[in-house]
Amino acid sequence: MLTDTQRNRPSIDTLYIKTYGCQMNEYDSSRMAELMQRTYGLRLVGSPEEADVILMNTCSVREKAEEKVYSELGRWRKLKERRPDIIIGVGGCVGQQEGERIQRRAPYVDIVFGPQTYHKLPEMINRIRRERVRLTNIEMPEIEKFDHLPKPHAKGVSGFVTIMEGCDKFCTFCVVPYTRGAEISRPVVDVLSECRQLLRDGAVEITLLGQNVNGYRGEGPDGEEWDFTMLLYAVAELEGLRRLRFTTSHPMEMTPELAAAFGEIPQLMPYLHLPVQTGSDRLLRAMHRGHDRATYLRIIDELRAHCPDIALSSDFIVGFPGETDEDFAQTMDLVRRVGFDSAFCFKYSPRPGTPAATSEDNVPDEVKDARLQELLGCMRELTSAALARQVGKTVDVLVERKGRQPGDMEGRTPDFKIVHFRGQPRQVGQIMPVRITAAYGQSLRGELVLAEP
Ligand code: SAH
Ligand code: SF4
Ligand code: F3S
Repeated sequence: MLTDTQRNRPSIDTLYIKTYGCQMNEYDSSRMAELMQRTYGLRLVGSPEEADVILMNTCSVREKAEEKVYSELGRWRKLKERRPDIIIGVGGCVGQQEGERIQRRAPYVDIVFGPQTYHKLPEMINRIRRERVRLTNIEMPEIEKFDHLPKPHAKGVSGFVTIMEGCDKFCTFCVVPYTRGAEISRPVVDVLSECRQLLRDGAVEITLLGQNVNGYRGEGPDGEEWDFTMLLYAVAELEGLRRLRFTTSHPMEMTPELAAAFGEIPQLMPYLHLPVQTGSDRLLRAMHRGHDRATYLRIIDELRAHCPDIALSSDFIVGFPGETDEDFAQTMDLVRRVGFDSAFCFKYSPRPGTPAATSEDNVPDEVKDARLQELLGCMRELTSAALARQVGKTVDVLVERKGRQPGDMEGRTPDFKIVHFRGQPRQVGQIMPVRITAAYGQSLRGELVLAEP
């Protein structure tokens, strides 16, 4: 075989990936890195300046996503001018949405791909190197990209597995159904074998991922369709698994069995992120969320009946078209009533191609800002109160890594709060009792409770 130098082709040795967006994108980026390592022996580097292949994995869920991509690309253009042989690729949800428009605006981009085509990266890169062409591939193939990717490996005590992708819910504000496509679930055996691999690599915690993870409907080993709760029970039984989590859930896919699982599966941690977006029935309808506020509150009651200590978090949008003071008051009321431990709060921004974008974005920006600040203020109080409640308790902490202060270790409580304490690097991967001594804005401090000698 001819080497790159004999073919007079510059060799490619290094890879840089810039990732925006959700955990699915983080997962996809790590799969891309593994694929490129496997195919080309590429080494992952920490900055685009050092890389021969530079990829951006983009997100288009909120405001100015496209602009952020183009301004980052502006910086990468300079690298390409200096080193014309580098390969620049844009993938992810902006890639899917914009397609060839990206190369029209930024002709130095070699590849545009979507969330469903990144397994074709090596093929695309080969063609580019052979034919010096620009490529776009934003198909949504029926076949599973997962079948074409190398088996993933865990990098720490906590591993992630995408079990389903896409979204069929079509909330009126959201681009995800258009960028990620329809809901597709992976077969149960594939999920279990990926989990087993992570556990063999030393992970003790697994987080199952999906845009509507609890909408999972995959083919079971018995040939029947398994729902999410059935899958949870099967994963929980895997040898070596100590902690199980999942994200993101949709209220419409919460079943009584899933709520009960929080009381029945010891490995399933008492924490749930359950986005509600607004507390106003009128807006829930306009957003096409499929449920009203009473239903959401009923689900919360049910969860707490099975798991009284469950910590809850959510996503909120303020300033959806037509949102009145009364609608917003309903949101504030719901937040206090549920008592979320934390939440992500966003100002509404119209996204291209979504139904809500055809309505006028008529809540003035000052009003959106004021509502956002009020909501964030309330959430800060709730978060502080939730952390303060832990002081004095002894909790099981999964030690994840060294803390920032020398001598400190960092880990998480069952309900997903960050704890710092004095410890040893060899404790990484262990679950240890820690007595909580202080609460800060976003985290806890504690000390190891050591067994009597
Ligand atoms: N599948 C998940 C989350 C998807 S996106 C779910 O259904 O809950 C993550 C969050 O981004 C959403 O929950 C929503 O709060 C926010 N978001 C989505 N589109 C938005 C938009 N157009 N403007 C502002 N926030 C938005
Ligand atoms: Fe977007 Fe709604 Fe689907 Fe979540 S459920 S990804 S908010 S359309
Ligand atoms: Fe963003 Fe796509 Fe995830 S739009 S939030 S990267 S699914």
